[in-house]
Order: sequence, then C-alpha cells, then structure tokens
Amino acid sequence: MIARNGPGLGSWGSRWTFILAATGSAVGLGNIWKFPYMAGENGGGAFVAVYLLCLFLVGVPLLVAEVMLGRRGRHNPVGSMARLVDRSGSRKHWIWAGRLGAIAGVLILSFYSVVGGFSLAYVFSSALGRFVDASPESVVGVFDALQDSTLALAGWHTLFLALVMAVSVRGVSQGLGKSLRIIMPMLFLLLGVLLWYSWNYGDFDRGLVFLFDFSFHQLSWSSSLGALGHAFFSLSLGMGVMMAFGAYMPGSSSIGGSVVTIAVLDTVVALGAGLVIFPIVFAGGLDPAAGFGLMFNALPLALGNLPYSHFVGTLFFVLITLAAWSSAISILEPSAAWVQERWGLSRALSVIMVGVVVWLLGMGTVFSFNIWADAKLLGTNFFGWIDFISSKVMLPVVGLLVALFAGWKLAEADSRDELAMRAPWVFLAWQWLIRYLVPIAIVVILMVSVWGFISALQNPFA
Ligand code: PHE
Repeated sequence: MIARNGPGLGSWGSRWTFILAATGSAVGLGNIWKFPYMAGENGGGAFVAVYLLCLFLVGVPLLVAEVMLGRRGRHNPVGSMARLVDRSGSRKHWIWAGRLGAIAGVLILSFYSVVGGFSLAYVFSSALGRFVDASPESVVGVFDALQDSTLALAGWHTLFLALVMAVSVRGVSQGLGKSLRIIMPMLFLLLGVLLWYSWNYGDFDRGLVFLFDFSFHQLSWSSSLGALGHAFFSLSLGMGVMMAFGAYMPGSSSIGGSVVTIAVLDTVVALGAGLVIFPIVFAGGLDPAAGFGLMFNALPLALGNLPYSHFVGTLFFVLITLAAWSSAISILEPSAAWVQERWGLSRALSVIMVGVVVWLLGMGTVFSFNIWADAKLLGTNFFGWIDFISSKVMLPVVGLLVALFAGWKLAEADSRDELAMRAPWVFLAWQWLIRYLVPIAIVVILMVSVWGFISALQNPFA
C-alpha cells in the first residue's frame, strides 16, 4: 500500500534544527542512566573505546542509512519505504521496515512515558526538599510510595505524555523544531552547571577513574555486545525516528557531516552525565548502581548531604526530564506522521489518536509497578514483555531491514546522489559497512538478546 502524497509534513528549515532535533532524540535516558554505569562496570576507558568503535562502525553507518532513506522518500517512514520500494522494484515486504519501526515506537513510548513521569515527579519531590539531609530509608520511601500508588504514577505518566503531545500537535516546524531549539540548549547549559558542581563538590578524581581508567580485564565479550546494543539504542535507531527526521531535512545539507555531529554530541552528553553522577555518588560514600536505583535512590541520597543539594537536585531532575521529553517527542513522530498521511487526517487528530493508544499501553506499565507486579507470563510481567518485544526484537529487526534495503536494494545511483559524499572512498566505506558489517553485527545482537531473554524465562514445565 502506498501512502498518498500528503500535503507535506513540514520541514526543519535549517540543517542545525535537524541536528538539534536528532540530538534531542539521541540524548535520552539511555545516556544518563545506562551508559555511565555500563562504562564504569565494564572496564572504564576500555569499554568507552569499544563503544566508540561500535558507534562509528555500526551506529553511524546505520544512522546515515535511515536519514538517507527518509530524505529520499520525503514522507513518513511507511510512506517513504513504500515509495523507495516501488522505485527500486523491490518486494513489498520491505515496507515492513517502516511499519515495524512505527509500531515499535508506540510500544516503547508507552513505557518511556511512565519513566518520564517518574522523573517529572522527582523534579517536584526535590523542589519540595524531600531529599535534603534525608536518610536512606526516607529516600527509598519516596520511591516506593510513588511506585506503589497507581493513581500517582498514572497521573505523572498522563502529564508527561500530555507535554509530549502538546509539542507534537503543533507540527514539525512550529512544534518540534521550535521547542527543540529551546530544550536542547537548556539541556547543555544544565549539564554544564552540574559538571561545574560535581567538579567542585564531588569526588571528581574517583569519578574519572571509574569512568575512564583502562581495565581490560573487566571487558568481556558480553560487555562488548552490550556496547554494540547500546550504540544502537543511543542513536535512536530501528524506530524510523531518524527516517522521519531525515524526511524533513533540507535537501542541500550533508547527511554524513550531520550524522557525525549527532553521534559526537550524543557521546559528549553520555560521558558528561557520568562525570556529573559518579563524583556525586562517590562523595556521598555510596556505590554506583544502574537504572532506577542510580537515578532515584543513590543520587538523591548522595546529594542530600552535599551543599546546595536542594537546588542542585532539582536541576538534575529537570535535566533528566528534558532529556526524556525530547526523546519521547521524537518517538511519537513516525506513527503520528504515518496516521496523518495514511488517512489524510489533521496533525492534531493524528497525534491524539496515537497518544490514546500510547496512554492505554502505558497504563499496563503503570500497573506492572503495583497491582500487576505479580501478574506474570513465564515469569515476566506486562512491562517486561513490552520491553522485550519492542527493544530486543523489533528494533534490531528494523535495523537489519534498513541496512539490507539501503545496502542492497536501493539503486547505488540513488544513494550516491542522496549522500553526495565529497570523497569517493567515504561512500565506498559506508557501502561496505552497511552491506556486511552492520547486518552481521545486528544479527549477533538479535540472537544474543533473544537467547538471553528466553533463557531467563521460567520454564512452565519445571
Ligand atoms: N536514544 C534514546 C536514549 O538514549 C532512546 C530512544 C530510542 C529515543 C529510540 C528515540 C528512539 O535514551
């Protein structure tokens, strides 16, 4: 099915707005609560080096491919794929690269919004001074109270999603473009202020050692695969987000140069976040943890005993909320644009329709924290399943389809023309990577993550 040629979804106006928007997508919870911890635990500098290798050899070529397909197609990801499939005379099945990506986005946004709601709640808790000089029990108490209250969690999830939709309804240039031109500089400014703080009041040297000291013995095969998977997630690949954003990019700007800038900024924020968090956690005499534990327990607790903690803690949660917000806005884009073009609906109606589905699915995640916590299928609850199906299965599958389509199906003349790389060897290097290395790397991630999940499931017959 070919999406009709819509009136045009909009455009970024300039290359820099595209770069800011794509960086806003890339910089998210993954940079702040996952990357620093992974790096610290898995060999510091050695892990960072492997990560950079994965980022530039696998992530960047795939990001180039997504943006290129989007700009060549000039529609929502499904519409763009349909046009390119037609043009290249390939089989219709390839359009699934667009469909699956948009559907994965809806699933992922449903829980991303709940986690975004958590960070929003923490902006208020820290602004109200709940963590000032707090004991470990009371910090954990704040978290438990939020997690256990269906109503509170649902309320924060609803508010966060409403903030995301409020930007999205205004469309590409007035909504996304305008807001991200404000959100992103604020995010960088906050990160700078917090870095200055942890440099002055945190245990900066220990943070540096944790994050950068080369410990090759801690680097294992599984942590290298973790680096690969994270490079993929951190660049927002596999959801059609970068394809949608590419479609709004000015025709004359260089894709390669923009993509490298995005990857560098994404890494700078990930490393910067580590240099904010760990010095503070160490200064508080705590051990680093990952995910929820690091963000919502260790950090507020460690900060609680340092100077100006009331103010700094609030800034920190504002930073996380901004990062989550800008990513969430981008995750909504492929499906909203798809609905809009597919049925010729208004922007507002499309965003509302997708938003309602996301909200309902998100309620499943809200319940997974409390009333459905023990409602498990093969030992995994609702949230666990949605996370597995979307991030572990659908994202790599979409990445694989995109790489194979861009590398093997799209006419070389089309990709050469769209990428317009100045040096011929850069195009050849990209083509080699996207044809061979990227697909192989994705198949490995897919197999390992599916295998890991299945082996952790409870055997119903045991
Ligand atoms: N890149 C985001 C992060 O690191 C997550 C994300 C994935 C956002 C896919 C959009 C699309 O948190």
